[in-house]
Amino acid sequence: MSKVLWHFTMSLDGFVAGPDHSMGWLAGVTSDPGLIEEYASTTGAVLGGRNGWDAYPDASTIYGGAWQGPLFVLTHHPEDAQPAEGVTFLSCDVAEAVRIGLEAAGGKNLEVFSPTIGRQLLERGLIDEIDLHVAPVLLGDGIRLFDNPGGAPVRLALRDGDDRSATVTLRYRPA
Ligand SMILES: NC(=O)c1ccc[n+]([C@@H]2O[C@H](COP(=O)([O-])OP(=O)(O)OC[C@H]3O[C@@H](n4cnc5c(N)ncnc54)[C@H](OP(=O)(O)O)[C@@H]3O)[C@@H](O)[C@H]2O)c1
Repeated sequence: MSKVLWHFTMSLDGFVAGPDHSMGWLAGVTSDPGLIEEYASTTGAVLGGRNGWDAYPDASTIYGGAWQGPLFVLTHHPEDAQPAEGVTFLSCDVAEAVRIGLEAAGGKNLEVFSPTIGRQLLERGLIDEIDLHVAPVLLGDGIRLFDNPGGAPVRLALRDGDDRSATVTLRYRPA
């Protein structure tokens, strides 16, 4: 069954992009090639925000080129977006964007590649799963996975394991 996945590689201190959308901090960070294959094969469509698209307007780089499919970019001003093959600029309610994305995903997952859209969807109960890969780096500045000053804590349940409320232990040393 298709899911709405909020999926990121994140720094240990919770940033998914550095200042000005910089992603250079991922240089030298490795990941299991099997993981990329897994996500490339289970993803049917991607939903992103306009800032991420404007910073990296190239759909062919998703999963290092291992994935091709429909990309939807949500924006309040689609009229000034440069058309790109396979990319649809949407200006609608986030729930409608999810409906459109899921339909396009054809039974596979819809991946949400935007912190701001993910936050809105979480609030509306429209995120099925949050998948994170924690990179061994502290950024201290940039775009947070979840920026919600003044908001109440959002309780989560671990997807795998017997104790859904267990903490996850990560041990690092400065490199
Ligand atoms: N680490 C990772 O794995 C990973 C993966 C994917 C992306 N990223 C990074 O994530 C960053 C995305 O940054 P971000 O959260 O600041 O920007 P974003 O979500 O990409 O874009 C925010 C913009 O999306 C549009 N938007 C959001 N909600 C909307 C709504 N309800 N209706 C209409 N338009 C809406 C608005 O565009 P308008 O202003 O045009 O209205 C808003 O300004 C990028 O730097 C990207 O590189 C990281």
